[in-house]
Amino acid sequence: MKIFHLSAECYPIAKVGGLADVVGALPKYQNDNGEESAVIMPFYKNPFTTTHNFSAVFEGHVHLGNTSYPYQILKTSEVSLGFEVYFVAIDALLNTPFVYSENDIDRFLAFQIAALDWILTLKQFPNILHCHDHHTGLIPFMTQECYKYEALNKIPVITTIHNAQYQGWMPYEHLHKIPPFNMEHIGLLDWDKVINPLAAAIKCAWRVTTVSPSYMEELKQNANGLEQLLAHESGKAVGVLNGIDTEVWNPETDDYIIENYNATTVAAGKKANKKWLCKRFNLDEEKPLVAFIGRLVGEKGAELLPEVFHKVLQQEVVNILLLGSGHQDTEEQLSQLRANYSGNYNVYIGYDEKLSHIIYAGADFLLMPSRVEPCGLNQMYCLRYGTVPVVRRIGGLKDTVVDINDNGFGICHDDVTVSDIAYAVHRALEFYNDTVQFQANRTFIMSIDHSWKTSAKTYINLYNSINQQHYD
Ligand code: ADP
Ligand code: GLC
Repeated sequence: MKIFHLSAECYPIAKVGGLADVVGALPKYQNDNGEESAVIMPFYKNPFTTTHNFSAVFEGHVHLGNTSYPYQILKTSEVSLGFEVYFVAIDALLNTPFVYSENDIDRFLAFQIAALDWILTLKQFPNILHCHDHHTGLIPFMTQECYKYEALNKIPVITTIHNAQYQGWMPYEHLHKIPPFNMEHIGLLDWDKVINPLAAAIKCAWRVTTVSPSYMEELKQNANGLEQLLAHESGKAVGVLNGIDTEVWNPETDDYIIENYNATTVAAGKKANKKWLCKRFNLDEEKPLVAFIGRLVGEKGAELLPEVFHKVLQQEVVNILLLGSGHQDTEEQLSQLRANYSGNYNVYIGYDEKLSHIIYAGADFLLMPSRVEPCGLNQMYCLRYGTVPVVRRIGGLKDTVVDINDNGFGICHDDVTVSDIAYAVHRALEFYNDTVQFQANRTFIMSIDHSWKTSAKTYINLYNSINQQHYD
């Protein structure tokens, strides 16, 4: 089966968060199953694109209303990711260092139209178009409704919702940029009197998936305005738990970390990585290390962290290390806290892929007090590195972490309050002091299989079920 994934991000080419990790792994695992899965993404001006050579497989012009932009479909043969990547290069719009920017309405509209224009020219159409998040949310509508894409309207389109908080809202002044369609169907684009690409995708896609089963259920209660729509379309919607790329995330072979290890050598391996972190960040290697990695936004419970850390550092024997960036207020408060707890607390404000790997390897606990967590990959990465997750029971965290009090291996809490989070850390540290159990748990969590193998098959079965229905 020929599958095209359409996405704004794909690891290691362009990454802002978990979307990139998913799109950089799922196609590879699908190809391991004998499929022909490829990615179509924008060509940004970033370290990946500026250090590789590309050749054009197609050239054309993409029209946004009366404005026409030259574009190319580019490929590189210099890296092998386990899947083909087709880059949509529209210099005037996409060629910036940033994946997301002010001008995203035009950028992603042009990306989607250019991708479909190119697909129309192919001798062999794909069997499946798999769209990720609102940046590709108009594809299901356009293939179904726009006259120029009539030849594509038999191709099943799947939309995966990685995060329903972001919907890509577009005021109606942009309507003329969407290729012509029967205006009687304009309601398919609309939600609450604006063009809503995510809502349009939910209405028009042949199937909708979310990135964990629990998130699918939660969206019916809390989907930033789309609750009713999701409840209405629930017949074609299913939650498929994300996996992780166990080749990239493998403490035994990971080039980023200080010392490699496996389940047998985990104690020494983690110690060496922790030692490096403690030296680099002026922490105390004799004390347990609790870490946080992620976007400093409300969804992650980040604005509570300064107070949580303050409370925990006053009451417990612990080190805390944070890697993240986001809301400036939170960044500043987290940085200021350093003055009070020098030697036991530090932050790195910014994005650093290598450092994240060393933290997964060197930390004893990873904190994820998320308000909303559609899936969450960090908890699965930390498990693989023998680091105990301390998470709120929500979304994908609920589906992947079981509390030690329920015969599980992690620490869970229910509320996103300073006291609940601090108490979860307290329980984690008690567990740490139970040395024998703690060591045994480390070995156990490293063996939990969250690889994409299972879910890649689930997606293939989903595609097959649609193709089957289609030809019945
Ligand atoms: P989300 O996509 O909502 O941010 P996920 O848990 O799905 O959350 O994925 C986050 C991904 O981004 C993980 O690969 C994580 O390691 C990475 N990440 C987040 N913040 C940083 C950072 N500041 N530096 C390096 N990696 C980061
Ligand atoms: C989104 C979600 C995150 C999920 C990721 C990959 O960024 O916020 O929970 O893991 O997508 O699906």
